[in-house]
Amino acid sequence: CGIVGYIGNRESQPILLEGLKKLEYRGYDSAGIAVFTEQGLEVTKTVGRLANLEGRLQDDPLRGTVGIGHTRWATHGKPSDVNSHPHTDNSLKFSVVHNGIIENYLELKEELMHQGHRFLSETDTEVISHLIAVEYEGDIVKAVQKAVRKMRGAFALGVLTEHEPDRLVAVRYASPLIIGVGDGEKFIASDIPAILEHTRDIYILNDGEMAVLTRDGVELMTIEGNFIAKEVFHVDWDLMTAEKAGFDHFMLKEIHEQPKAYRDTMRGRVSEDGKSVSLSELTTITPEELRKFNRVHIVACGTAMHAGMVGKTIIEQLARVPVETDVASEYRYRSPIITPETLVIVVSQSGETADTLAALREAKRNGARVLAITNVVGSSVAREADDVIITLAGPEIAVASTKAYTSQLIAFYLFGLHYAQVLDTKDEAFVSGVLAAMDSLPEQVEKILSQAEVIKKIAESISRHSNLFFIGRGLDYAVALEGSLKLKEISYIHSEAYAAGELKHGTLALIEEGIPVISLITQEDLQEKTLSNIKEVKARGADVFAIVNDGNEEEISKSVDSVFSIPRTLSLLTPALSVVPLQLLSYYASLALGHDVDKPRNLAKSVTVE
Ligand code: G6P
Repeated sequence: CGIVGYIGNRESQPILLEGLKKLEYRGYDSAGIAVFTEQGLEVTKTVGRLANLEGRLQDDPLRGTVGIGHTRWATHGKPSDVNSHPHTDNSLKFSVVHNGIIENYLELKEELMHQGHRFLSETDTEVISHLIAVEYEGDIVKAVQKAVRKMRGAFALGVLTEHEPDRLVAVRYASPLIIGVGDGEKFIASDIPAILEHTRDIYILNDGEMAVLTRDGVELMTIEGNFIAKEVFHVDWDLMTAEKAGFDHFMLKEIHEQPKAYRDTMRGRVSEDGKSVSLSELTTITPEELRKFNRVHIVACGTAMHAGMVGKTIIEQLARVPVETDVASEYRYRSPIITPETLVIVVSQSGETADTLAALREAKRNGARVLAITNVVGSSVAREADDVIITLAGPEIAVASTKAYTSQLIAFYLFGLHYAQVLDTKDEAFVSGVLAAMDSLPEQVEKILSQAEVIKKIAESISRHSNLFFIGRGLDYAVALEGSLKLKEISYIHSEAYAAGELKHGTLALIEEGIPVISLITQEDLQEKTLSNIKEVKARGADVFAIVNDGNEEEISKSVDSVFSIPRTLSLLTPALSVVPLQLLSYYASLALGHDVDKPRNLAKSVTVE
């Protein structure tokens, strides 16, 4: 989501709207603003793109010099007018915009309802406005501090109260927020582009810090109330760079957002002791239902299908239930055997892919239960499925999917573990072991990203070829498919992904002197077999680049031309790491060839025709 706020001497509405426009890439399913007008704190908000809000405000403007605004990417509660931000309390005197997730909002909401509070929306944010109202005793800063202490999760907040119209309070906790410093005016925003037009002097809040803004000053403090000093950061980026948080392309930015996407997708779904998974969103597909299924079908398109192929192994290994995978455009037409004992899992970043939606409908017509894994709350797929696991990757702008894919993997790990708990196929020690290893994934991804330069060099040499191969066995094969697709999508270099053992059954004929073969060797039980296949291509002159586990570099470099090692994790979890160098590889190859990385030719982010 995107937050913006203004306190100054100019009309706030146009400043807020302009700011929100610059933040639309952070979310665009609904938007709203709250402004102190002569009537008091007034809110206008509406579902849909920002243009809808603009239309409303054109007819009925909110006049005043202090306000907050929000553009939403739904996490709790579908996109709708009431679920849009800002949210207010029952007295209508407090208004809040929020980016992030409040993990314990249901608990807090119940408590407040018990005290007689009425709630209009399904959001976690509305709870915050009520909490602040409850804690208010004449000082908004203290009230926010007290409320925040009760909240668990991730949040960036902008808060206004009618009782103190000359103050705007901002909080940052695990969600980004910056403060803009102007002459006689101050700003808050989720991200620099929103305010760049007005000021280049900003304070960057750290987690656990807050700011109190007046027209003439900014007080910075911790959420415990200790005052802090900070240097002003002067931004010299242009707007285009700022939108991409300083990265050259959305794709690179999104690749770098993966550690956060992993954490966000796990957040609130793992018990506090780290021993079990709890997917409270599975309200229809209850444990009783799960016990009833005798097979699982995973259906999706493109990159989401590749996540599904990893999902198949995850579910089969963890829950020991047979899983089939199908591309959605084939599924309906092969008269698949679907019964009420079939669980169909559809995977879709956008939730709007026509083929996937058609497959979902076919599954339901045949009496199956449908679970959706999607990145968009309220999307068609999310609405029509029986239950939904939302991936919390945030909006993905680049056509080539990166953080949505890896968040889908995280969703599969969580679901696979949940399924195993229900069927009792894995004990608590096993589950907590996997969860602990998952906890380390974000840091491990960071480590890979810090070695991007190594991949860049390999990518530049690969970009001189017009054909290449990806090979791997088991989960490495599923990742090879995704690596190959990524490269084709954005660099237009032709490649094929092959199960390493299948290469000799025909395709080996295409291997000639100098052809690059990218080999994934992270599944150690299959390592020797893959190495034999590598010998077959080496003997025919291939130039082999291998992705291996830390510690195996030395051994494997004897058989290949170059290696890149990824941090060690459980072999089931390696796809969440091994795909990252492949994403970087395709990114840098595309860059070297001078292609439009974020908008490759002929492709669309979301394909709504069959
Ligand atoms: C399009 C995109 C692909 C994407 C596929 C599925 O073809 O270009 O990158 O993987 O659709 O999209 P979905 O939104 O259903 O995950």
